[in-house]
Amino acid sequence: NIEARVDSVFQLMTLQEKIGQLIQFSGNEELTGPDSKTPNELELINKIKAGNVGAMLNVVGVANVREIQRMAVEESRLGIPLLFGYDVIHGFKTMFPIPLGETASWEPELAKATAAMAAYEAAASGINWTFAPMVDISRDARWGRVMEGAGEDPFLSGAFSAARVRGFQGEDLADPLTVAACAKHFAGYGYAEGGRDYNTTEINTSTLHNVVLPPFKACVDAGVATVMNAFNLVDGIPATAHAGLQREVLKKQWGFEGFVVSDWNSIGEMVAHGVAENKKHAALLAMTAGSDMDMEGDCYAPHMLELVQEGKINVAEVEDAVRRILRVKFRLGLFDDPYLYCVEEREGNPAMQQQAEALALKAAQKSIVLLKNEKQLLPLKPGQKVGLIGQLADDKDTPLGSWSAHAVEQSAVSLYEGLQQGDHQLSVRYARGPQVFDQNTSFFKPVIFNQDNPVGMEAAIEVARQSDVVVLAMGESRFQSGEARSQMDIGFKGLQLELFEAVRRVNPNVVVVLMNGRPLDLSAIADKAAAILECWHLGSKSGTAIASVLTGEFNPGGKLPISFPRSVGQVPIYYARTNTGRPTGNESVLFSQYIDGRNDALYPFGHGLSYTSFQLDALELSQSEINAQEQIKISVNVTNTGAVAGTEVVQLYIQDVVASSARPVKELKGFKKVWLEAGAAQQVTFEIDAQALAFYTPEGLWKSEPGVFRLWVGNSAVGGLEGQFKLI
Ligand code: IFM
Repeated sequence: NIEARVDSVFQLMTLQEKIGQLIQFSGNEELTGPDSKTPNELELINKIKAGNVGAMLNVVGVANVREIQRMAVEESRLGIPLLFGYDVIHGFKTMFPIPLGETASWEPELAKATAAMAAYEAAASGINWTFAPMVDISRDARWGRVMEGAGEDPFLSGAFSAARVRGFQGEDLADPLTVAACAKHFAGYGYAEGGRDYNTTEINTSTLHNVVLPPFKACVDAGVATVMNAFNLVDGIPATAHAGLQREVLKKQWGFEGFVVSDWNSIGEMVAHGVAENKKHAALLAMTAGSDMDMEGDCYAPHMLELVQEGKINVAEVEDAVRRILRVKFRLGLFDDPYLYCVEEREGNPAMQQQAEALALKAAQKSIVLLKNEKQLLPLKPGQKVGLIGQLADDKDTPLGSWSAHAVEQSAVSLYEGLQQGDHQLSVRYARGPQVFDQNTSFFKPVIFNQDNPVGMEAAIEVARQSDVVVLAMGESRFQSGEARSQMDIGFKGLQLELFEAVRRVNPNVVVVLMNGRPLDLSAIADKAAAILECWHLGSKSGTAIASVLTGEFNPGGKLPISFPRSVGQVPIYYARTNTGRPTGNESVLFSQYIDGRNDALYPFGHGLSYTSFQLDALELSQSEINAQEQIKISVNVTNTGAVAGTEVVQLYIQDVVASSARPVKELKGFKKVWLEAGAAQQVTFEIDAQALAFYTPEGLWKSEPGVFRLWVGNSAVGGLEGQFKLI
């Protein structure tokens, strides 16, 4: 029984040792390496040995972890093991698609599998805790971290977030092949105003509870071990000091038993926010609000004891935080064996390599979205002369994406390499074209674009002229999206549009392969490109996956997890908007919309084509009304009407027509992915009950309200077969 075991350790601890558990520091191999130590490193080592540290981050590698763990368990008085956290966001060594891209698979089980593999690789390197999944809903492509979440929709995100938690944590946290997960950033970080990272948020109560919080709730229900708070303000209060969120909603209402870690110095940053006078005051605010562990804030360590002694902090709050942290350590099996995750034979053992790579390929293939395919230019046909153009086409780094953990630099299969593999009977000529990205950008340096040097343009045009089809790689470099990568312009940077136009002038058969971390403004190419393939940053097997789709070896089935705008001016744009009193929907009215362009998404949420076609018909509802105890069955027939096998994602959207607060014009309430041979048909059924129709009402309750519900079953957020039923 874990609680009894927590007690048994807890009873032995001094207050100072308890406070030590609340502290997390960042380290690296320098801490354990043979070189002489800096004063800071020596100080940290001494703190660990004194039992004044509860967790580390950024220490990777079994030898490093083992040595630091040794300091804690063999040299501190009580020998309490440390947690070792790391940002394992979409893979550790083998990179899977960025989370936004992977969500385009609409296959949560796939995300569970890639998370499990990422956990396996990370745990083999000594890590026992990942700072993932990132479950922030974001509807603003200007925000660079949109790449790290599951997109705009709480239902889809909830399904993926829970699956990722289950993948990272497995059945039993004490299994040394798994790691503790961390749902982040609690809460509202994705709503940063104007998409400017770390910025304040404007989230009303309904949006907070109905949109922002549900994916976190899904993680808690899936047993997530930890939650990370956020840098931003919510209602003018830093999330880190938000008792309503952390103590009331997360811990009390949802019964979360794990612990809350601050984001990096989010406690200390409350001084800059202007809500704390100094770090001591920040520590007081954060602990009072339920932030259990201080990551690199240096607020709890120097001030917590004093705050308790002065009676400003109730010691019970500190003790609750300590128990939460110990609980996770017990669940991870660290008290039974502090070196559980330090198995030298596993580290670097290639036993799982093949499986990891096969999974990376499968995940990459399933994440690709065919946005457009005019005249069925894709798949490419045997015998065709293909002109492959663009700097991104032979880039072995960009597909690894931001947050690429321990991936070896330059280890992704480039598109160029992908097209060299296999027997596709294409003749491929490559021209890089002008440089559009500076390759030497690191995480914290700004991306510099070389706008003035069109060297390579002529060669690209020549290749295009001599080809039957041009495959043009466009998009964003690796670190153009991610943390602190907000952009006011989400169009194509550098000379990409010039290159696109130049190539298209000599060859209209242009297939654009997009590599990007956020929805881009594609309006300049959408009508002109013959085909567009959304390939995100797909990970280690990017090029192989894209080539398999280009050649038709793999039939794409991905669907967008986020709306693609026509212009940055539409952002934030999302399908589940609420109506105004003067509803839009007709481009000829002036109300509630822009007058200088189309207002709908260029490519809506849920959109994605295939090399085959599907027809949905025969919508049937099991009954016209249900009561609170009943369930309605909603069925459709889906038929593969094309010539090849493929997958379709059948999507159910519902509208609560009249409610005590305005409800979205459409809300995703179910989805099913089906694979059908050419000509085959299948019935797909959704089951909906009153609970599925519940929302957070103005009274602050989750409940469903009787009335009429409209529904649509379709293959994107636009259109679909329509029906309705009543909840009585
Ligand atoms: O996990 C991250 C977080 O998402 C952003 N700030 C730093 C943390 C630890 O690296």
